[in-house]
Amino acid sequence: ALVSMRQLLDHAAENDYGLPAFNINNMEQMLAIMSAASKTDSPVIMQASRGARKYANDIVLKHLIQAAVEMYPDVPVCMHLDHGNELRTCMSAMANGFSSVMMDGSLEADGKTPASYEYNVEVTSDVTKAAHLIGVSVEGELGCLGSLETGEGEKEDGHGFEGKLEKEALLTDPDQAADFVAKTKVDALAIAMGTSHGAYKFTRKPDGDILAMDVVKAIHEKLPNTHLVMHGSSSVPQELQDIINAHGGEMKQTYGVPLEEIVVGIKNGVRKVNIDTDNRMAITGAIRKALQEDPGAFDPRHYLKPAISAMEKECVQRYEMFNCAGQG
Ligand code: G3H
Ligand code: 13P
Ligand code: ZN
Repeated sequence: ALVSMRQLLDHAAENDYGLPAFNINNMEQMLAIMSAASKTDSPVIMQASRGARKYANDIVLKHLIQAAVEMYPDVPVCMHLDHGNELRTCMSAMANGFSSVMMDGSLEADGKTPASYEYNVEVTSDVTKAAHLIGVSVEGELGCLGSLETGEGEKEDGHGFEGKLEKEALLTDPDQAADFVAKTKVDALAIAMGTSHGAYKFTRKPDGDILAMDVVKAIHEKLPNTHLVMHGSSSVPQELQDIINAHGGEMKQTYGVPLEEIVVGIKNGVRKVNIDTDNRMAITGAIRKALQEDPGAFDPRHYLKPAISAMEKECVQRYEMFNCAGQG
């Protein structure tokens, strides 16, 4: 059944686990997630970015969600808008069957310029007022996603801001987080704690200085009833980098967020863990391998089937690691 994010995250908080939220933009990704969830008895959060909605078309996405719910009637499914940039983007997602939306007011509507706190409060409150009327949940964002190693913040295009930002400027401030949640009434809060989007997060395995788990703890202490969201949570597994590079790819050596660190976050109030890059890499590695091993093949199913299996494997591992397995 289609459920709101709030229902899933409340259950996760009561039972001390975290939910991976996987990005989708096509049928194969939907099939991989649903198969992984069904095999591990896990609830599902699927999310589509503005780019994904443009790529797949809202009508196709709407029916993909319906298909997922019909194929697996026993699996609770939340369909979430990732990084909504303004009220009307969130409204159109709701009109197209999304049961949850993110209003990312940490950036202005251009998705690039860091926004003022006042703007963020206002635009996010507008979205919660509308969404809560129809039982749709809302995720807000406070702080600036970016790497504490490089000092670079996020822009929606995956490139950093120009110039370095101070550590304090990147991270979410716990007192401000408490004020933000009280004013906006969001169901979940995305926080900045040292991660960034994409594959190139860190140049070495991150330690305590790079991932600000102390900030996660401090926010959770101030807001024990607010569900925290970690963006940029791909682990960028070495095996996937190796598969891609062994079959004609050229990814530079890079490091993501170790799964053990995400587990620490979950112990400290993180309930939703956003993952896109790992699944993209699993798919690309499988497709490269299948095409290289059989250059004569031209039926897309020849490489899409292994792509689905490779992504499913990543999803299963995360459902299990986050203690989400068995909670469906
Ligand atoms: O927030 C970033 C997600 O990985 C979605 O990326 O905008 O390329 O679809 P996208
Ligand atoms: P990754 O790029 O680390 O997978 O993060 C995805 C994300 O945060 C989507 O909102
Ligand atoms: Zn994100």
